[in-house]
Amino acid sequence: MNGHKEDQKITFLTGTYCSFRPAGEVCELDLGCGCGSYTTQLAQRYPERLILAADVMVGRLRKLVKRMHREGVENIIPLRTEARHLVGLALPDGCLDRIHLLCPDPWPKGRHRGHRLLASDFTAQLHRVLKKDGIFHFSSDDKPYCDAVEKVMNESMLFAPVEPNGDLEGITSDFERRWLAEGKTVKHIYFKRLPLPPKTIGH
Ligand SMILES: C[S@@+](CC[C@H](N)C(=O)[O-])C[C@H]1O[C@@H](n2cnc3c(N)ncnc32)[C@H](O)[C@@H]1O
Repeated sequence: MNGHKEDQKITFLTGTYCSFRPAGEVCELDLGCGCGSYTTQLAQRYPERLILAADVMVGRLRKLVKRMHREGVENIIPLRTEARHLVGLALPDGCLDRIHLLCPDPWPKGRHRGHRLLASDFTAQLHRVLKKDGIFHFSSDDKPYCDAVEKVMNESMLFAPVEPNGDLEGITSDFERRWLAEGKTVKHIYFKRLPLPPKTIGH
């Protein structure tokens, strides 16, 4: 960890199943949080909630920790982890109220599609870690990625589209602000976790 003092605030997740059990009563996850501008605004608006901020790039998490210190925010847990490892293995069942996946890299070239986080196999993992009626929130400036996410979420039969309830009004991520400044449109979509369909073989 090269002696960075911010690393004392970062949880480095390298273990396997259920190696991290969030303690908050209401718990949200910002998956691929980057430098954590969105996470910080969310945590400041809802100081009683626990916000998990996950990213694979430790340098971005260190910036988040500096911001937390600067702004006196304490209800964020920065997690240095790979998203599929976190959601697929490290988190226990039914522990999250909401997951945000905001402006993820769209990997527009066909041969790179496999790098996209949101593909059909991931929907079952999102479903596993969300609580009953939990929400998955996705945003992107990339229309083909948004369309693909809507398709896999709807076809999964594990989620149904919902309207936003307004509690995130005015909170924007770094990348969303960047795309808006370039004149692009960023679309947000929300899905509610449904009960498992009757003939599913668990998760
Ligand atoms: C385009 S940035 C978006 C950051 C932030 N959500 C925003 O909207 O400003 C994507 C972020 O996801 C992180 N990331 C990409 N793939 C990841 C993975 N497999 N696991 C965890 N983080 C990942 C990157 O390190 C980067 O910080």
